Amino acid sequence: MFHTRDTLKINKKGHLEIGGADCVDIVKQFGTPLYVFDEAYIRRVMRIYRDTIQSEYDGRGLVLYASKAFSCEAIYAIANQEKIGVDVVSGGELYTAQKAAFPAQRIVMHGNNKLPYEIAEALDYGVGLIVVDAHSEADLLEREAEKRGMIQDVMIRINPGVEAHTHAYVQTATPDSKFGFSVANGAAEEITAYVLSKPHLRLKGYHCHIGSQIFEKQSFVLAVQKNLAFMAEMKAKLGFEAEALNMGGGFGIWYAEGDPMIDMNGYADYLRALLTTIKDGCRTLGLNFPFVYLEPGRSIVGEAGITLYTVGAIKEIPGIRKYVAVDGGMFDNPRYALYQSKYTAVLVNRAAEQPTELVGIAGKCCESGDLIGIDFNLPAVKTGDILAVLSTGAYNYSMASNYNRNLIPPAVLVKDGAAEYIVKPQSYEDLVRNDVIPERLK
Ligand code: LLP
Repeated sequence: MFHTRDTLKINKKGHLEIGGADCVDIVKQFGTPLYVFDEAYIRRVMRIYRDTIQSEYDGRGLVLYASKAFSCEAIYAIANQEKIGVDVVSGGELYTAQKAAFPAQRIVMHGNNKLPYEIAEALDYGVGLIVVDAHSEADLLEREAEKRGMIQDVMIRINPGVEAHTHAYVQTATPDSKFGFSVANGAAEEITAYVLSKPHLRLKGYHCHIGSQIFEKQSFVLAVQKNLAFMAEMKAKLGFEAEALNMGGGFGIWYAEGDPMIDMNGYADYLRALLTTIKDGCRTLGLNFPFVYLEPGRSIVGEAGITLYTVGAIKEIPGIRKYVAVDGGMFDNPRYALYQSKYTAVLVNRAAEQPTELVGIAGKCCESGDLIGIDFNLPAVKTGDILAVLSTGAYNYSMASNYNRNLIPPAVLVKDGAAEYIVKPQSYEDLVRNDVIPERLK
């Protein structure tokens, strides 16, 4: 019915459990809507990536948790304890990492349009690497680094031209992409020479990320091969040999029936395949093995998280559809509205019952498109039931909004069967905190 990953199970009471905690009890303690994360799961995936680099590549690399998937202080604290790095893409993510005392050297900063203040903040904190994605950024970085009398390590984001099989909105290495410098049209070579000419920038190598929620190993392998070929070309043409290669993120996770169920070690297999590709490619091309980075986000937190809702209004439109409305919606999970994403729902308090009906799950926002999905197989759902939507750990909380002035749900972290807040509930006061009524309107 669902991919348990040893984190989800149905207990003797017939309730859904996550990380050993009964979801009915979690709801009694914290209410709904609520994001729930299993800490053991998150740590397990972080370790799998870290240990694979250790065993297969002599530890000459660093896993960077792509914190856009789920950013809050606690997740940076966990990543720090697991001795991995993080990728941040905004001043806000950097600030959150900083508040969690995340070591600057293990932070890599991304973004296709980093703002001057974000660059200044990154340099002031001493961020280990900055991935350059525009000439203007290289200029800005050079100026700010010079001002501080420092030399900043940077990478260049290249677009190797790999079309991965995923939703168009999350493909990033097609010819028409706002990300990276194209290898095919010579832009990647030109920016390499440009960055090399900057005395306060130290070019470490290249980054590429082909997209997200991708299962084909071959797409990742191809991107790495193209990267290596480009590295060899730059060595031959410009005498520049990259010391580092950042392979990006993008490994797919299980959301619903039809999605591959990769077991935990499957992620190690993906990484092993990439590391083998690098070793083989470098030998063939006469390159030194680069220091490697991998930037998984979704595969670390996606299946570690679920969202719990209470069922409210139920509306049956004869011959058309039955809608079950929950106390959340597109303000805590906009992914159906954005990408028609598929999810799996479980009736938490009667999890062992067989499904008997096909229902749509609607949110509470004033939008017809505010749905979690339209085709969930569930036992007969009643008002007051608790629903869990699975695999919501990535790109849900991080993409949440206060649309309709709904409150973004809090998040709890489960460890050894007990849950505690990692993001406290918002209040109405939080909603109006920055509102101002000009005198003349009073
Ligand atoms: N590195 C870079 C440079 C990225 O742009 C991304 C994701 C990652 C790493 C992490 O990729 P992951 O391992 O999580 O697939 N909001 C969309 C996903 C956008 C992904 C953006 N970049 C969604 O909800 O599906």
